[in-house]
Amino acid sequence: MKILAIDTSCDDTSISISEDLNILANVSWSKLKTHNDFGGVVPSEAKRQHKEFLDPVITESLNVAHLGINDIDVVAVTYGPGLAIALEAGIQKAKEICCKHNKKLIGVNHMIGHIYSCLAKDAEGNAYSGVDDFEFPLLALTISGGHTDLYLMKSHMEFEKIGGTLDDAIGEAFDKVGRMLGLGFPAGHKLETLAKLGNSFAYDFPRPMHNTNDFNWSFSGLKTAVLYQIKKLQSGYEGNPIKDDFKMKDESNNLDETTINNLAASFQEAAFESLIIKLRKAISQYNPKMLVIGGGVIANQTLRNKLETLCRNSNTPLFYPKPMWLCTDNASMIAVAANFYAQKNLYIKDIESLDRVPGLEI
Ligand code: KG4
Ligand code: ZN
Repeated sequence: MKILAIDTSCDDTSISISEDLNILANVSWSKLKTHNDFGGVVPSEAKRQHKEFLDPVITESLNVAHLGINDIDVVAVTYGPGLAIALEAGIQKAKEICCKHNKKLIGVNHMIGHIYSCLAKDAEGNAYSGVDDFEFPLLALTISGGHTDLYLMKSHMEFEKIGGTLDDAIGEAFDKVGRMLGLGFPAGHKLETLAKLGNSFAYDFPRPMHNTNDFNWSFSGLKTAVLYQIKKLQSGYEGNPIKDDFKMKDESNNLDETTINNLAASFQEAAFESLIIKLRKAISQYNPKMLVIGGGVIANQTLRNKLETLCRNSNTPLFYPKPMWLCTDNASMIAVAANFYAQKNLYIKDIESLDRVPGLEI
């Protein structure tokens, strides 16, 4: 089955062409650099970008795949979660193509896409994560800018949520701490680079909720602990923070390079140790056949190393997409997931009825 997949959930205009699980083309366009000035994504800017670039990116991806629109069997599109008006741009384009060229339509949950990114293969059929199919039961973790969720899967497309963050997502914490350290947006990759140069034992940041008997996380307190530490370093600040302190602005002006690197390394260590502590507990309770991980934060090499060690010690096979473009937002994961929606016959019957669901959950 040949699929044209669209993801416009945030600020990447991403199109993928796939045949079954094989990715024939993945073309993404992002104007992230211009969003940097705002310290985040401006929805109206993202919408404008999608409207402008969807057509050329679709043309380019069909060219890369050496296919025409008539070769496509199904259009798959992300309908949530994400920014409402950004999602809308992709959904409208998907409807337009389906009506004009008489194609079937599948609406895909972006977070299911991140989980199924682990089953993507290259054009020759080589699995990007090293696994051809899921073995159940498995544990699936999503770690992105908006999510930190843990699921037990007993079969394809069956998800039981067993844990999640109670406040900030882990990627969000990276972006907020990155902003305090003057790293721009999004900060994950830059923070990782600085952390490699720093001492992860320099500051003893908390591992929130590490001894609770559930599989939940909290990253908001950790982020605030970094803020207090910065304030202390800058002015001997010890008192109660005032409301303005929580605006997460650039606090880095008086910090030297070594201090910034040490703060980045110590924050990253605490965030990842929090993840590992709960994953260790979940593996020992559920004894899964594998642990699969998707989302932008799995691009981080330090985290990958920690997870490899955890899974080696617990004899649990670990799979995550190796290429960076398959970890962060992309339409290929939407194409891969669409194969499993199709197996369950989850086509949209009335094409016009597909609507965006910004807060969509698995
Ligand atoms: O999956 P994704 O591209 O978008 C969402 O669905 O949210 O994830 C983006 C998140 C951002 O918060 C970004 O800072 C984080 O992934 N990220 C990283 C790294 N690369 C991206 N976090 C830590 N280390 C990285 N190398
Ligand atoms: Zn995402």
